[in-house]
Amino acid sequence: MRPTPYHPTPYQLTSHNLLPLLTLLPALLLAPVVAQSQAQTAPALYKDAGQSPEARAADLLGRMTLAEKIGQMTQAERGNIKDSADIAKYGFGSILSGGGSVPEGNTPANWADMIDGYQKRALSTRLAIPLLYGVDAVHGHNNVQGAVLYPHNIGLGATRNADLVRRIGRATAEEVAATGAHWTFSPCLCVVRDIRWGRSYESFGERPELASLLSSEIDGYQATPGTGSSILATAKHFVGDGGTSYGSSINPEYLLDQGDTRLTEAQLRALHLPPFQAAVKKNVASVMVSFSSVGGLKMHADKKLITDVLKGELGFKGFVISDWAGLDQISPQYDLSVRTAVNAGIDMLMVPDNYPRFVQTLTDEVKAGRVSQARIDDAALRILIQKFRFGLFERPLTDRTLAAGFGSAAHRALARQAVRESLVLLKNSGVLPISKTVPRLLVTGSNADDLGNQLGGWSLTWQGRSGNSAVGTTIAAGIRAALGSASKVDVVAAASLNPATVKTYDVGVVVVGETPYAEGKGDRSALSLSPADAAAIRSVCTAIKCVVVTVSGRPVILTDQLSSMGALVAAWLPGSEGAGVADMLFGAQPFTGRLPVTWPKNMNQLPVGQPKDASAPLFAYGAGLDR
Ligand code: GLC
Repeated sequence: MRPTPYHPTPYQLTSHNLLPLLTLLPALLLAPVVAQSQAQTAPALYKDAGQSPEARAADLLGRMTLAEKIGQMTQAERGNIKDSADIAKYGFGSILSGGGSVPEGNTPANWADMIDGYQKRALSTRLAIPLLYGVDAVHGHNNVQGAVLYPHNIGLGATRNADLVRRIGRATAEEVAATGAHWTFSPCLCVVRDIRWGRSYESFGERPELASLLSSEIDGYQATPGTGSSILATAKHFVGDGGTSYGSSINPEYLLDQGDTRLTEAQLRALHLPPFQAAVKKNVASVMVSFSSVGGLKMHADKKLITDVLKGELGFKGFVISDWAGLDQISPQYDLSVRTAVNAGIDMLMVPDNYPRFVQTLTDEVKAGRVSQARIDDAALRILIQKFRFGLFERPLTDRTLAAGFGSAAHRALARQAVRESLVLLKNSGVLPISKTVPRLLVTGSNADDLGNQLGGWSLTWQGRSGNSAVGTTIAAGIRAALGSASKVDVVAAASLNPATVKTYDVGVVVVGETPYAEGKGDRSALSLSPADAAAIRSVCTAIKCVVVTVSGRPVILTDQLSSMGALVAAWLPGSEGAGVADMLFGAQPFTGRLPVTWPKNMNQLPVGQPKDASAPLFAYGAGLDR
């Protein structure tokens, strides 16, 4: 049955209802005046926290000058800010700490005071737009003394545990926010295809599905945007950084890092794009462009991949940031580099030291019509939306109550559990587990008692450093702490090993591996054990029952030594909680770690997928024993 159409009765003006109308007359006459004054006194929409981030950003953008918009697109490095007045003068969208760029004292309070100081200058500008402070918190808040440092990504890849990695992201966000920072340039979703690459340990592994799975770290970082301890995450480095060809680096000091990824589009999409699809689905706030090239074109200049694929096809709504002075690698002609990068779709430029030149050049490019106002508006809008989304306008300064959780026992326990799950047992002829009442235990090897070596790169400094300057527990200290007075534990430098003495021990633990490095400085043509480590294995494993533990950012070549080992455990770069390694040597739980990368017999078995020597590797991707 069709409904009866609604016909309202026409309003009849009579003596009964005229009087009430007359009383409304003054209000009706004053309405336009009141509306005008309300418009002037009502808070600007962008200041209304009840509005959506998109609406607030659009309102604010409409109030901004070109200079203010370009300021938002500029990220300076704290150590290179020539005059702190520049923070307000240029209206930086962001300031970063590069690896090891820390305030005097390097405590959480020093960080919070530094960042709040920058923020107050940003808030002194006409529109009081807060800045984002960014850091490389890539395995905990690794720049800061006393932070809990988790296993680097390659070890987390061995866990295959998405929820564990999410919890690590959450705990890390709490420590980052406790220092006043808002943004981490993490996770690296690179897919390492050649472990001669110095950034292999920043990868979760050689297959894209591992990085996609463990992009769960983003959920930890960005848990509840706009609340106290959620921070912006960064999916990096877009795209194909782990697939560069050996010898193709643009940097003469490097072999693979910042090189050229020579794959068909189909191969690139299959191997390196899926983790970014996963990150976009998780609403990652930012994506960092890679230094590397694809098919000879610098990623920093690649409009098709950045704008058409990442922003268009994948629907990325956050903002794209360049890598450290990556802009400068596009062309020797600076203005060409600037307009190419911005027109390719990069929204914020990490210009660690030459921000005045960048700002002036981009301004000139816009005025000359070589960069459109629409492109500037799109970039600034994307940045502002994330600032509103993460509550920076409501809470621009550090929440000092978070300091209590910095370096907490709970975070250390989480890190220790991550270490346990990251270890991969590759051989065991009954030597493991070691009894907790073993009478005489020998511990030796270059990485047995060196916290810096087990932390690896990106730890207090960019490159990391050997020695015990950080806060944490070495593997040897963890072993000592695990045993009681029934056991005698001797930690002996490999160079001091005496064959006669070695024979007096029941078991030997030989911890070998690499010293710290980061990025291209870790590119290697060979991955052999050091002569000292090979000698330590020989001295111990030919004399008594031995367990070899590798502490390294990637597999090392130990084919010749394998037969002498009673057991072999890959511990990757376990971070500050070395006791987690001891836990596993004494049988705290079954080994659940599985290889995230292929372990080659020799260097001719690299890169994965295109080796010269296609015979079986020493251990295959996914290998690992339970006990
Ligand atoms: C570095 C790295 C990048 C890092 C950035 C800021 O060169 O390539 O991963 O986030 O600079 O430190």
